Amino acid sequence: METWSSRAGFIMAAVGSAVGIGNIWRFATVVGQNGGGAYLLPFLLAVSALAVPLMVLELAAGRRLRASLVAGLRSLSPRLEVVGWLIATVVFTILSYYLVITGWTLAFFAGTATGQEIRFDTFTSGLAPVAAFAVSTLCVGLVVSLGVRAGIERVSTVLMPAALVILLVLFFYSTTLSGFGEGLRFLFQPDFSVLTEPALWSAAVGQAFFSLSVGFGILLTYGSYTDAQTSLLRSAVIVAIADVAVALVAGMTLFAIVFTYGLTPAAGAELAFSSLPIAFDQMPGGRWLAPAFFLLLFLAALTSAVSMLELSVAAVLDRTRLTRRAAAALLTALVALLGLPSALSYSSLNLQVRGWRVLDLLDETVGTMALPVSALVIALAVMHYLPRGWLAAEVGLSGSRLGAVLETAVRFVVPAVLMLITVSRVGLNIDPPGWHQVTVRALGAPLQVALTIVLAAALLASTLVVVGVLRRRWPPRRRAR
Ligand code: ALA
Repeated sequence: METWSSRAGFIMAAVGSAVGIGNIWRFATVVGQNGGGAYLLPFLLAVSALAVPLMVLELAAGRRLRASLVAGLRSLSPRLEVVGWLIATVVFTILSYYLVITGWTLAFFAGTATGQEIRFDTFTSGLAPVAAFAVSTLCVGLVVSLGVRAGIERVSTVLMPAALVILLVLFFYSTTLSGFGEGLRFLFQPDFSVLTEPALWSAAVGQAFFSLSVGFGILLTYGSYTDAQTSLLRSAVIVAIADVAVALVAGMTLFAIVFTYGLTPAAGAELAFSSLPIAFDQMPGGRWLAPAFFLLLFLAALTSAVSMLELSVAAVLDRTRLTRRAAAALLTALVALLGLPSALSYSSLNLQVRGWRVLDLLDETVGTMALPVSALVIALAVMHYLPRGWLAAEVGLSGSRLGAVLETAVRFVVPAVLMLITVSRVGLNIDPPGWHQVTVRALGAPLQVALTIVLAAALLASTLVVVGVLRRRWPPRRRAR
């Protein structure tokens, strides 16, 4: 089995997976739509209390089982294999539309770098998004086909520092703008009155998971490539801090531009591709700042997309006799087909389901609601089948208070919170006015009922596992390694 060449290489790859469109564009959008500073408290709590423990769990489970998501779950119990494939399918679906947005960033980079005036409406009305999607997909497939060290690690080690330099240049420029102070106030001044809204908390948890790549099974796969000496706890904390820091710096930069040029902070998905180019046109040096911004988005998106494809490729490699190249080629072709409806959904073909563009629909359903459920299922399955105390032992905290707290958190507290959030979000139809323009109710009664049934079944299955643990009536067939 392949491994990372160094701990630094692993951390770069994990940061590459975490830092993506979620930090730079989605974070600013969600903050904008949830009233600014007040959103930070639930977000930081969701990151530290839910996402980081689950990151540690996924990484530790991968190293312990020495297998990717599907083979790892199968080694716990053969009946869990199907769960692994289901989660892999969810991530593959997210990847299919994530690559479309990656393509937009590439096209906007190419357009602004060559001095063209590129407008979102005209760009998406033609076939250019499909071409940009195809190029991005090919790039991602190529990186993954080169393998863990020569592909994922090497590319992340070059692209992540490059992205950071670009972000810092843009940030320092933004501090010279007249709206910088107003942006800071918007981002950091809390209005505690909104903290009683459940929707805010739900939005914060969804964003924390998406941004830190938790619940995808990616970290489990990446954990399987680490050696016994790597401190998984420290790695998870470094990745989380890097991810949040990038989100905050990007947020300060974007809001400085927003307030200087009179844009709307809650402009939603429009912000990056419609509003910002107009601001760049008016900005001194905007001719260079615009391509720098879109290159930053592209690099960040590319390394995240690589990690999503790696999840499926690793799963196929573990369960078939295909070579890495063949598996990467096959899955690249598949994701290109699967992403076509999303790529065309903003075009003149206007592919929609019940009035919602395919891309938005997938993001609202699979992209938003599936992650907490898959995180829940991974946590419950792993904690049920591995012996008590395994997690603390794997992260070098055996016998310590922190180890006991971590085990209790991922065994009971985190699953309980995740269940509460999922049920309140889907069953009670509490939906954040976050970056999504689609609410569950807006999908229409039949889709809402179908979604509720699927999620309720997942929750029921998870609950049965918990009950099994409590009653010891469903003992595992065999203890995994
Ligand atoms: N974690 C990745 C992002 O933030 C998926 O975009």
